[in-house]
Amino acid sequence: MPSGFSRRRFLAIAGGGYASIVLAGCGKSAGPVSSTRSAVAAAERRRRKPGASVTELTLTAAPYTLDLAGTQVKTWAYNGAVPGPEVRLKAGEVLRARFVNDLPEEAVVHWHGIALRNDMDGVPGVTQEAVTPGKSFMYEFTVPDPGSYWFHPHNGLQLDQGLYVPLIVDDPAEPGRYDREFTVVLDDWVSGIGPTPEETLKELQGGAMQMGTMQMARSELLGGDAGDVMYPMFLMNGRPPNDPPSFDAKPGERLRLRLINAGAETAFRVALGGHQLTVTHTDGLPVEPVTVDTLLVGMSERYDVIVTVAGPGAFPLAAMAEGKSGQSLGVVRSGPGEAPGADARPAEFDGRLLEMSELRAAASVTLPARSVDRTYNLELNAAAEGYRWMINGKSVLDHEEVREQTTPLKVAQGERIRLVFDNKSTMFHPMHLHGHSFQVVAADGGAGPRKDSMIVRPKERISVDVAADNPGQWLLHCHNVYHQASGMVTLLSYES
Ligand code: C2O
Ligand code: CU
Repeated sequence: MPSGFSRRRFLAIAGGGYASIVLAGCGKSAGPVSSTRSAVAAAERRRRKPGASVTELTLTAAPYTLDLAGTQVKTWAYNGAVPGPEVRLKAGEVLRARFVNDLPEEAVVHWHGIALRNDMDGVPGVTQEAVTPGKSFMYEFTVPDPGSYWFHPHNGLQLDQGLYVPLIVDDPAEPGRYDREFTVVLDDWVSGIGPTPEETLKELQGGAMQMGTMQMARSELLGGDAGDVMYPMFLMNGRPPNDPPSFDAKPGERLRLRLINAGAETAFRVALGGHQLTVTHTDGLPVEPVTVDTLLVGMSERYDVIVTVAGPGAFPLAAMAEGKSGQSLGVVRSGPGEAPGADARPAEFDGRLLEMSELRAAASVTLPARSVDRTYNLELNAAAEGYRWMINGKSVLDHEEVREQTTPLKVAQGERIRLVFDNKSTMFHPMHLHGHSFQVVAADGGAGPRKDSMIVRPKERISVDVAADNPGQWLLHCHNVYHQASGMVTLLSYES
């Protein structure tokens, strides 16, 4: 898109609080723009405590060569690592991040799951102009809620490169009922060893489903089609299963594992050999703890689990690419012992699986009960022809067209909104809402877990409730990056 066009379009729909973001003095107009602009700044003022401390960092996205067990592969990365070096701060603090784009194409940074001010959300053509190569952009926002988050680009298929970083927000009042913690980032990997994401998308569009990296994966757990891209490799914390990361602990210690699925097209089933997993948080926010043997983590979802370390020994922490072949692997080590092999398959994979229906938000984060002001039904489907994905029959290839090409879901600040995801396709979709954590509506109508990404299986209908408390223009989309780039995107739009 020529940038002149992009700028005009951007100014027509976005609201910015800072002169450094949009051209200053672009004036007042009716509709979502003016209402959003002052409301976004007001929402940030409410979040920001006087004297809040500021964490500053520079984030450079650039081409990078990653070592995969001795094989050098070319990819893109933030700050010279895959995943990029973890960013940590405390809830209530301000993050001031200068993003430097040293990639050969436009880019932005999207802060996944953070309830931040809308003009810092990092959606090109919606909340900001994309940052052109060689340029930079200053992100600055209050980080309100503790939890496990991450960030990534929101341009085309860039997410299927090595561009992802965990963002961990500590709770100043953390009860700390664990001895150590580890962040565990899962990824499906093709960069530098197979076709580029663009080539893969072309193949999908050409319908070449049985060739090359393409093949239909099946999973009962996902209700059918588990994906179209057969990745040659799966990584844990940037390392392949034949060179696994080691998580060192002592027998009897309690570990908090922050599981993050940064994959583009793969759901992972996670288990730790010889251990049970007590799930404590979904997408950052606490739930009533539930203990299971294994759980499924969809693209962009996060689960925090507590394990009590057995041993002494070496235990496989395995994340099987659900419905595909292969896994990512790490080793929880509490003493000497032979490291598990690259294809170690914990028996726990076949044990008790976490069901969404058994999760309840912790009382501290349960939305106050109230009636719903508006309900939006979102039909998820594939187009009859070609590789196009749709929400309510609309398909949007370019974020900056989202307002014109879909019917935005209008909301007013203070309302309670119900979104009903109705999957009419033959494939699962991890549906993600920006800027909010919704609450899953349990079968009995009660409060399910708080989440920002939710797997919706074929034939499933899942309702989630949103407290509309963060004004702005927010993307709602499938976090399968190939579906997103093929149209499965709409907009939640605050209007007044
Ligand atoms: Cu990870 Cu639009 O999101
Ligand atoms: Cu999808």
